[in-house]
Amino acid sequence: MNVAVIYYSATGTVHALAQAAAEGAEKAGAHVRLRKIAETAPPEAISANPAWAQHLLDTADVAEAGHDDLAWADAVLFGTPTRFGNPAGQLRQFIDTTGPLWYQGKLADKVYSAFTASSTAHGGQESTLLALGNTFYHWGGIIVPPGYTDPVQFQSGNPYGTSHVTGDGPPSEVTLQAARYQARRVVDTVAALKAGRAA
Ligand SMILES: Cc1cc2nc3c(=O)[nH]c(=O)nc-3n(C[C@H](O)[C@H](O)[C@H](O)COP(=O)(O)O)c2cc1C
Repeated sequence: MNVAVIYYSATGTVHALAQAAAEGAEKAGAHVRLRKIAETAPPEAISANPAWAQHLLDTADVAEAGHDDLAWADAVLFGTPTRFGNPAGQLRQFIDTTGPLWYQGKLADKVYSAFTASSTAHGGQESTLLALGNTFYHWGGIIVPPGYTDPVQFQSGNPYGTSHVTGDGPPSEVTLQAARYQARRVVDTVAALKAGRAA
């Protein structure tokens, strides 16, 4: 089973969630590709924020997401920071290049799930995840949210997808555990779908 974890992160928070999701999927038995979305912001914007510039350097060795990763995957977990209550433009730009895959039906019938981070608790995490969901509907995807299907969800608290408030500091162990759990749930769902389709 193939799981792609495709994320955009400017300052590392969503990257940490993506790593945890990749760990969770691997531990659940999936082949995993951790892929970053290519940076498209102007260099002057990046260099004005030392944390952003540093994170770009720190993740230089992470492969960039491509259409091949979407085609390869049985399931995709997407991660993005909240940007004014929406997914980051960098991720949207990637998604907006997927028309040919969509047209050939190559994005349909896969499992999709999403996670995010925002500065504040009411800063738009749910609207960001729901906005990504709009695309999954168009792709004919099977959306798998964590809901409250594991005890960790009662601690981390977002049934739409793992979410972190960056104003509280780096992701806590509970949040990372929620990301691992979300990925495991995705893997378990793919396994059930594969078994059912083979029957
Ligand atoms: C242009 C822009 C818009 C943002 N909009 C929001 C927002 O609507 N709500 C919020 O709480 N945080 C907002 N933030 C903060 C980011 O969500 C936060 O920095 C991000 O989750 C950190 O993730 P990263 O470390 O993976 O880049 C915004 C940041 C930028 C640069």
